[in-house]
Amino acid sequence: MPQAVVIIGVQWGDEGKGKIVDYYSSSAEIVARFQGGNNAGHTLVVEGKQTILHLIPSGILHPHTACAIGSGVVVDPENLLKEVEVLRQAGVPDLENRIWLSDRCHLIVDYHKHLDAARESRKAGKIGTTKRGIGPAYEDRAARRGLRVSDLFHEKLFEERLKANLEEKNFLLEKYYGVPPVNMEEFQSKYREIGKKLKPFVKDVSRLMADSIAEGKKILYEGAQGVLLDMDYGTYPYVTSSHTLPSQAALGLGARVPVDTLFVGVIKAYSTRVGEGPFPTELKDAMGDRLRETGHEFGATTGRPRRCGWLDLVAVKYALRVSGIKNLAITKSDVLSGISELKVCTAYELDGKTIDTLPADTDSLNRVKPIYETVPGWQEPLTEIRKYDELPQNFKNYLKFIETQTGARINLLSTGAGREQVIDLKKAF
Ligand code: GDP
Ligand code: IMO
Ligand code: MG
Repeated sequence: MPQAVVIIGVQWGDEGKGKIVDYYSSSAEIVARFQGGNNAGHTLVVEGKQTILHLIPSGILHPHTACAIGSGVVVDPENLLKEVEVLRQAGVPDLENRIWLSDRCHLIVDYHKHLDAARESRKAGKIGTTKRGIGPAYEDRAARRGLRVSDLFHEKLFEERLKANLEEKNFLLEKYYGVPPVNMEEFQSKYREIGKKLKPFVKDVSRLMADSIAEGKKILYEGAQGVLLDMDYGTYPYVTSSHTLPSQAALGLGARVPVDTLFVGVIKAYSTRVGEGPFPTELKDAMGDRLRETGHEFGATTGRPRRCGWLDLVAVKYALRVSGIKNLAITKSDVLSGISELKVCTAYELDGKTIDTLPADTDSLNRVKPIYETVPGWQEPLTEIRKYDELPQNFKNYLKFIETQTGARINLLSTGAGREQVIDLKKAF
């Protein structure tokens, strides 16, 4: 029985990580986010009620779980407080004590959001971001001009750093992008108020995590986005601005992960992607539309329709290699019920040659042609099945095919959006 489970997405995000984290959370004492920000949209469905979380870890609906937001996360405090309010209204208890916000988190503030939106409104270099200011905030962190949560409580220092930042940001906003600048006084008073409201949540998360690990507490690490959106190992430059690999779990929380940790990668039984960038198995036909409609593939953060395609095992195998993941949770197989034949991509063709991994450059990746194996589908609905033995044989064959191709083991199956729609093949805790 491991002390901790790290859960990450193995495709381009939206694999169903939130649902899997919520499922495991019943046995966890702490659920922790270690990268990304409110670009994430993690959907939980409990007793038919849907909750979408962007920053607060997906364990929050289990009343005894502490939810840590580590220093690797970029935090839009305005949106964090809105999320807290929605949970409070829904009767979720003891939020001040249960949410641990690291004092070292970098803040996403108004000018980051304005810059993200201004860049995205231009044709050249468009990434299709969530416009939440994620990239600009991580840029400032690397450039050593970022504002951090702890700065909110040191007015003089905050003012000095802000003044220097605004000089540059307003020049960019006004003179380069032609959009309105940010007013210093309004900004200061807005963030002064935000600081007061945020204070009860702010803690030394690195220390709390290290102590909890030493005490043997059960911890669940909740990745956001997915390996193929990782800043270095994803389909650069069409990626997010953080590291999404499991090694980030330690860095982004300021404490090593327990020795006894299980790493689980979540994959959808097919593929989706939101925003721009290469997507070799994308289906721009009736089957793509069918997957989008049946799978309700519309972004949990921006509402954008997700691009849909067949399962790409070249991309998955690459992602498993760079992340070192050997255990899988498979979601949304129920969406494939009723399709007579399924295709699975097992290799690419590039310039007449067969290749078995993702090329580094966008140009090649845009040109690869997927090589498919066709496997028989299953007609039966899966949503009510709770036992492996009752699953249709062709679905079991599909699972076996994934295991054989990837060399990974499937631990968990999700057969619907609800918390109870899970078949646990190997109890993790
Ligand atoms: P995340 O970002 O990885 O947490 O995933 P999202 O919440 O953005 O998107 C996953 C969507 O699929 C959500 O609407 C979930 O409620 C839903 N979902 C998760 N698992 C399943 C499943 O096994 N079957 C179906 N039909 N829906 C699922
Ligand atoms: P979860 O955690 C899917 C995508 C955006 C865009 C690129 C960069 O719900 O799986 P950003 O705003 O991060 O600068 O956008 O990354 N993206 C996601 N796609 N799921 C997510 O999160 C995503 N977070 C960012 O669509 O292509
Ligand atoms: Mg999502």
